[in-house]
Order: sequence, then structure tokens, then C-alpha cells
Amino acid sequence: MKLFKLIFILFTIVNLNVFAQKKATAKSSQMDQFVKSLMSKMTVEEKIGQLNLLTGGEATTGSAVSTDVEQKIAAGKVGGIFSLTTPEKIRKTQEAAMKSRLKIPMIFGQDVIHGYKTVFPIPLALAASWDLPMIENTARVAAQEASADGLNWTFSPMVDIARDARWGRISEGSGEDPFLGSAIAKVMVKGYQGDDLSKNNTIMACVKHFALYGAVEAGRDYNTVDMSKDRMYNDYFPPYKAAIDAGAGSVMASFNDINGIPATANKWLLTDVLRKQWGFTGFVVSDYTGVNELSAHGLGNLQQVSARALVAGTDMDMVGEGYLTTLKKSIAEGKVTMAQIDNACRLVLEAKYKLGLFADPFKYCSEERAKTEISTEANLKAARNAAAQTFVLLKNENNILPLKKTGTIAVIGPLGNTKPNMVGTWAVNANMDIVPTLVEGIEQVAGKDVKVTYALGSNLTADSVLQKNSTMFGRDIPRDNRPEQDVINDALKVASKADVIVAALGESSEMSGEASSRTDIDIPEVQKRLLAALLKTGKPVVLVLFTGRPLAIKEESETVPAILNVWFGGTEATTAIGDVLFGDVNPSGKLPVTFPQNVGQVPIYYAHKNTGRPLPAGGWFSKFKSNYLDVSNDPLYPFGFGLSYTTFNYGEVKLSNISLNPGKTITATVSLTNTGKVVGKEVVQMYIRDLVGSTTRPVKELKGFQKISLNPGETKEVSFKISEDDLKFYNADLKYVAEPGDFKVFIGTNSSDVKEADFKLLK
Ligand code: NOJ
Repeated sequence: MKLFKLIFILFTIVNLNVFAQKKATAKSSQMDQFVKSLMSKMTVEEKIGQLNLLTGGEATTGSAVSTDVEQKIAAGKVGGIFSLTTPEKIRKTQEAAMKSRLKIPMIFGQDVIHGYKTVFPIPLALAASWDLPMIENTARVAAQEASADGLNWTFSPMVDIARDARWGRISEGSGEDPFLGSAIAKVMVKGYQGDDLSKNNTIMACVKHFALYGAVEAGRDYNTVDMSKDRMYNDYFPPYKAAIDAGAGSVMASFNDINGIPATANKWLLTDVLRKQWGFTGFVVSDYTGVNELSAHGLGNLQQVSARALVAGTDMDMVGEGYLTTLKKSIAEGKVTMAQIDNACRLVLEAKYKLGLFADPFKYCSEERAKTEISTEANLKAARNAAAQTFVLLKNENNILPLKKTGTIAVIGPLGNTKPNMVGTWAVNANMDIVPTLVEGIEQVAGKDVKVTYALGSNLTADSVLQKNSTMFGRDIPRDNRPEQDVINDALKVASKADVIVAALGESSEMSGEASSRTDIDIPEVQKRLLAALLKTGKPVVLVLFTGRPLAIKEESETVPAILNVWFGGTEATTAIGDVLFGDVNPSGKLPVTFPQNVGQVPIYYAHKNTGRPLPAGGWFSKFKSNYLDVSNDPLYPFGFGLSYTTFNYGEVKLSNISLNPGKTITATVSLTNTGKVVGKEVVQMYIRDLVGSTTRPVKELKGFQKISLNPGETKEVSFKISEDDLKFYNADLKYVAEPGDFKVFIGTNSSDVKEADFKLLK
């Protein structure tokens, strides 16, 4: 009987799968027929029109502004619009498309990067949560709100691996690690697109910036990348591939040069790797005027670069109108074939079909949804919860934190009383007026027995021009132009009456993000002088550190008793900071990126190669070793680091077997105990090292993690399965292989503090 049941279940599963596959094939052949028939009616101009993406009339991240947009739409010369929101405006603009000869609907995109109106923490912060379901939910909420406001396409996730803290856009991605980055890329795509892109509450993802944008030389934005294929395939490509495998509908080409050919014109990248090797079937859009910028890269005039970008595999031209104005001529001159135009046009039309826009061009234009589904209480609650999960406790001497909900707290510093700087960079839809300042957030959580006072204490930077450039897009922080010491003295007066000082220091939100690279990644000097004066008071000082990148805070790590790294936490940043400062939430964030001792160590990352002359662990300087004269090789805070208000004890790593047979798994287990007094969450991290390879292998690579909650005194066994797949890498022939031999597995609380065991992969 049991066997019969089992056979029946198996039969049903197989049948359901076959049914699902048949349905998908039928759907895709319906789409093929539809698109083919539509394209048979289209003129060359109309096909080229589909490849043209314009802004809704305002420049966003460059100087180009789209003009005569409505006329162009009505003439069938526009495939999509970005940076236009609200159902009313989008409906009106879509109506213009419905007046065009073939009534082809447009897609409407925007940079919905970390939330929409409800802003979640910046992506780097989200990565610090290591909480995949939570991260997926942030994308789900963002999609729900954006689609309720008329949008159906987002330029996210940004999955560029970044190991150079000088690069401002490190804030927009998931940090330095391909494994963590891939896991996040996948859930972000799932969160945006759901399981059915044609629903009106899902939006199409656009994986960016393809590729290697995070490796720009010297951390200077838009700069050149020159990289080996070993590094590309093993370290930088995995998150893009993970997003493609998760079904992302579109990809954005990056601005940067790659080994001599900028991504936008790089056929090897956009066609050979993306389509042929990875099987991507969506469309590729350039970045903002990315096609035109090929001229500045030195690839020719607008006609030449437009032809080159299209032939390489860039299907849609963002804002620059090079395609619109030159492609027809290029066809006539034989520089571009009609088949190439057809292919790009088909991909754009297919995206529209998948979104369900041909069935209903106005399906995202619901005024009712816009009223009821945006900035809801539930979404704000999710934002507050998310933010609290992203904070990383870097230091907590003598358990200064959590604070008591009594007495006087002096909030001091340029980040302590600003609303617009809390949401972080790339929050274009944020209503910054409703964001509580840190003073307000702390007051809200502290309740009536706490008095919260405030003083500016210092400007953001001493240099007013630097401050102006660091506070663009309405992120102003008022300046006090009196002599510096007067401003500090005022703060000291306020501090003298307080029980605790909360120093709100660091970067403004626009000190990271696009075109916000820095050569100095310290806390600005003027703020450091304020901090030194505050420490001299002898009062307990908690540094609440705002940042969009790893900062070099060696001095502060030595002198300040407590440091809570809060990144930029979104709409509910400061209530969440309150939750953590007072211990209502126990911090559990872990760094997704290495914090260096100083900028000279950059790029610094845990998964480095060993070199032929490695420094012995714990060493500093040794002549003829790979090291520096003036600073050790150690990071200030390693990848994966983060403290808690409780403590955790790790047992030894136990392996179910020290030999792994191909096709089988072994299990690595540690017992984890909460040895402190409060409930807490710990991100248990598993790393692997391939000891002997056909090519050199990193000293450690993250291969698994789990976020575990434990009550005081509680112990849990935490297990990771290891299979041959976890040991695979791209070898010198770019084959993805696992090589038999010796391996080490490490499990621990961060990339430096681990227990280890040895195993072998058998032939
Ligand atoms: C330029 C940025 O590089 C990209 O990330 C963004 O999506 C586009 N501008 C559109 O705003």
C-alpha cells in the first residue's frame, strides 16, 4: 500500500512538472508568435524606437536631458521611460504611446535601489544583516510600492563586488564576497520579480553594472578595469551569474573599460559570456549615456560607437539617443545588419510581453493602489526591523551598551540632527521630511525618563566646498562658520550636563554613492577633533558611526569605548538605532566588507591569495616577506566581524567523514552556545581552503552561513553540508571544476576567528 502511495506521489510530481513545462513552452511559443507578428508590421524606425530609453524630462545622473518626449512617443520612437512616477503621470505618458501607429506600450523604470518610498538600509548595510529572507522582503516591499506607483522595472540589484573602500559605489552593493553577494543577488531578483512577472505587483529586475564596475582603478568612479579572467570568473562574475540564474529580466552594461574594451561595446562580455555561456535571454540596457561615452573612451563618433554597442549586445540605449539618430544610417552603410536590430527589438518587446503590458498597458496605473500600498505601517515596521539587523557593533568596552532608559543623553555631531542624511544614497523617492533625526529617533524609543540634548559640535568637513559636494540632492547639513573651537565649546557645555554622550559622526549620505569616491577614508579631521574633546570629558562616549563604506577608524577603535556602525539605515534608521542603543534589539550585523587600518592597505579582502612569501599568522614586519614596513597586514576589523550584547562560544569542528566522495556530501558541525545573559543572533560562517590546486587558490573562501538565534545558556549544533560543488572553481582553462586533494574547513564568528578541520576530496 505504502509503495503504491509513493509511486502515485512520484507519478503526480512528474506529471505536474511536465504540465508546468508544457505550460511554459506554450506560453513562450505564444509570446514568439505575438512578437513575430507585431514585428512583421513594424518599420525600421519603429524597431529602432523600441531601443530608445528616455527620461521623463529631468536629468538624473548626468547632464543629458530628454526633449520632445511626448512627440517622440507618439511617433513610435521610444521604448521606455525612466524616472517618471505616479499612476497619473505614467498613465498620461502611456496614453501617448497608445496614440502611436502600432500602440506598443512602454516600460517604466526607475532606480528603486533600497526600497521605494519606504526606504530600507543601503545595500551594503543590508548585506551586513546576512539575513536572506529579510533582504528578499525588502525587495518585495520595494516592488509592491514601486508597482503601486506606476513602475514596472527597477535598475537593481547592483551586484558589483567591491574591494576598494575608496570607491563611493561600494555602498550600493553587497561588499567584497562572491558567495554572500551571489546569495543576495538571487533573493533580490526573487523579491522584485516574484514567481510571476506578469502580476501587477512585481517588477522586472535589472542586474547591474555588468561587469566588474567595482574594480575600477584607484577606486575612482567610472575608471578603467584591467583584470585577469581567473579573477573575473572566480571573484567578480558569480553574483551577476546568480542573478541571471534567478531569472533577472534585464542587465545594465557598466560604464567601465574592461581590458581595453568598455563593457557597453564589449561583445565578448555581452554576447559570449552573458548569452552564450550563461544563457541570458532578457535584454541589455546601457547605463546613462553609456553608448555616447564610448566616444570619450576613444572608440569613435556617435554613429560608430552606437553601431559598435548594438553589435556587441547592448539592446537599449539609455538617454543618449545615439541609436535613434544613427542606426538607420549604419544599416544603409552595412555597419549594422537588420537582423541585429531585429534581435534587440525582439528582446525589448519580449520583456514587455512578459510584464503583461500588451494585455493591459495601464496595469500598473492604479490610483487606488498608490493611495493604499505605499508607506504603509507594515512597510515602515519592516524597514525599522531591517535597519536594526544591519548595524554592526564594532566595540563595546565594559558593556557601555545597551544604554539605560534614564538620565540625560547628549547627541553630538553633524549627523545627529539631520533628516535627509539618514536614508542614504540612491533613495530618489524618499520623503526625507518624515524621517526622524537621530535626536528624535532616540527620544521616541527612550520614553519619558530620558532627556535628549543636542549640539552640532563640528561641521561635516572643515572645507566648505567639500561639504557642499558631499551633501548634494538635498542632503544639506547646516554649517556653523564660527571658529572651530567655539563650536566644540558649545558641544562641551551640552555634554557636561549629560550622563552619556552619543557622538553622531562619520560621512554624510552623499559621501558615498555614484561619483563620490574618496582618497581619504577617515572620519573627517574636524569631527575627529570634536571626538577627542568629547572623550576628554571622561564621560562615557558611544560613537554612532554613519558610513557608506568601510572607514579607516584605527584611532577611534583604540580610544572610543563603544562603536556602533549604522551605515545609512533608511526611513526608520534612527528609531532602529534607538532600538539597538537601548537593547530592545540585540545587534547581530556582521561586516560584509573588510575595514582596513588605513587607506594604504586598500584593496584589502579576506579571500586573498597567499603569495610565495606570506607573513606568518600574527606577524608584523619581516624582511623579504609580503608585508608593509609601517603597518601589519591585518585588517582593523575582518570580513564577517560583529559583536553582540551577548557572547557566543564555538566548539571544535566535527566532520561526519574526513573523505568526501564525488557526488556525496560530508557534514561539518560545531556546537554554538550563548554564554551571555541576553538572547542574541549569531551569523555562523563556514569557509573552505583548497590547499593544493592547479592554479593558486585563496587562503579562505566563504561557502556557507547561518543566522542562529539562541537564548542565554542555550546550545545548538550548527551543521553545514559540504559537497563537491562547494569546492569548484574556474581553472586556467575556465572550466568549472573541483580538484581532488586536501582541503581545510573553517567555522567561526568572523573570517579571522575560526576553528578548523581537514578533509580530502577523493577521485
Ligand atoms: C547611472 C548609474 O550608474 C546607474 O546605476 C543608474 O541605474 C542609472 N544612472 C540610471 O539612473
